[in-house]
Amino acid sequence: MTTLRPFTCNDMFRFNKVNLDPLTETYCLSFYMQYLAHWPEYFQVAESPTGEIMGYIMGKAEGQGESWHGHVTALTVSPDYRRLGLAATLMSFLEDVSEKKRCYFVDLFVRVSNKIAIEMYTKLGYIVYRTVLEYYVGDPDEDAYDMRKACSRDVHKKSVIPLEHPVRPEEVD
Ligand SMILES: CC(C)(COP(=O)(O)OP(=O)(O)OC[C@H]1O[C@@H](n2cnc3c(N)ncnc32)[C@H](O)[C@@H]1OP(=O)(O)O)[C@@H](O)C(=O)NCCC(=O)NCCS
Repeated sequence: MTTLRPFTCNDMFRFNKVNLDPLTETYCLSFYMQYLAHWPEYFQVAESPTGEIMGYIMGKAEGQGESWHGHVTALTVSPDYRRLGLAATLMSFLEDVSEKKRCYFVDLFVRVSNKIAIEMYTKLGYIVYRTVLEYYVGDPDEDAYDMRKACSRDVHKKSVIPLEHPVRPEEVD
């Protein structure tokens, strides 16, 4: 049985195996601590009966007015536990939190090469809202899709009308 529970500081010493995945962004410890301090309700871990970390989601709520939204900062599932619906469950959790916070939409950034994640988000109802050029710095840099799904508060689904032109990272609020 899988347990969903809030992420704790100690989990940072135990999530290496999950984060070894090259498509999983790994941040400095203070970044995770910042999320734990500000948005603990958005930071959930899925744990196996033996206490192994199966995956986690980390997010936040931000924006003004109709830009008030939930954001997925990290979502990852260990290769040992993929294709069991865990990511879908974690996303549903974050969407519920965003609904309770009266957000207008949920968004996330994903590498344009990450076909599996794009397919998953599409299946979960997300659309490509815009392309962010060279969002991921590296060798070479890579573009991101900013994908969005409207919450029930966005009655007219204004937040998910795709932009016609790509934007630069500095234009992303
Ligand atoms: C992307 C990722 C989070 C998916 O996790 P998961 O728990 O295996 O996903 P789920 O089991 O919830 O899959 C939900 C749906 O996504 C799609 N999907 C997931 N993995 C897929 C795959 N390997 N191939 C094709 N479709 C896939 C399917 O439509 C699936 O539904 P189905 O199994 O009923 O067909 C996982 O592969 C991962 O951690 N990847 C590395 C990190 C990453 O890319 N994170 C996202 C960064 S933005």
